[in-house]
Amino acid sequence: MRTPIIAGNWKMNKTAVTAVAFIEEIRAGLDAIEGVEIVVCPPALAIPAVAEAVKGTKIGVGAQNMYFEESGAYTGELAPNMLTPFCQYVILGHSERRAYFGETDEGVNKKIKAALAHGLTPMVCVGESLAQNEAGETHSFVSGQVRAAFAGLTAEQAIACVIAYEPIWAIGTGKTATVEQAGSIIGGTVRATLTDIYGNDVAQQIRIQYGGSVTEKNIAELMAHPDIDGALVGGASLKPTFVELAANAK
Ligand code: PGA
Repeated sequence: MRTPIIAGNWKMNKTAVTAVAFIEEIRAGLDAIEGVEIVVCPPALAIPAVAEAVKGTKIGVGAQNMYFEESGAYTGELAPNMLTPFCQYVILGHSERRAYFGETDEGVNKKIKAALAHGLTPMVCVGESLAQNEAGETHSFVSGQVRAAFAGLTAEQAIACVIAYEPIWAIGTGKTATVEQAGSIIGGTVRATLTDIYGNDVAQQIRIQYGGSVTEKNIAELMAHPDIDGALVGGASLKPTFVELAANAK
């Protein structure tokens, strides 16, 4: 009942020119895939050109970040209404933003509310560090991140969100969490926390992605887990084999 969603987070890679060349290379392949929602998240300056290049296809476009205010003296930031002409999605609270740019749980919560108010689908990232994992703190930390992100959100708003569980130690390292590890946190922590807040009916409708070294080779195994509804993909979304990855997500 939950449509799988595969999103490519291009991070700080590709210019407007190289982004369009790449999307032209993978567009037909992605558009031919049935039963999977597919999103690409280019760097901000490439978003308008990529949005134009995917017009008429089923490929969605997302931003990698957004500020929660509508306008004003916030040097370097982008407001929701600057994204909405081009984007349907926005990644919020990615661990790189939390680690390098000081994003807080409170800020992520405000951004989620602002995105929803503008009709954007937030892809909300949560995940523990290696140290937290090794200290046995994964459950309490990730559960706390989910509670903070969804604070004050109605059930209807929660259902409009996608969550990405990305263990930080698995991002860009080639170290994927095992299906058992990923599935048990996604089911036993993320969805369990949502069930605690909103009840089972609502929690069952919210899509939860796994992220961290997902490739065309391991996606099928991850998707076979009943609680994993897709993936947020970094490195492997920059290559033409992203088409194969998305096709293998069914
Ligand atoms: P990766 O990145 O697939 O390169 O590990 C995932 C992410 O950061 O979303």
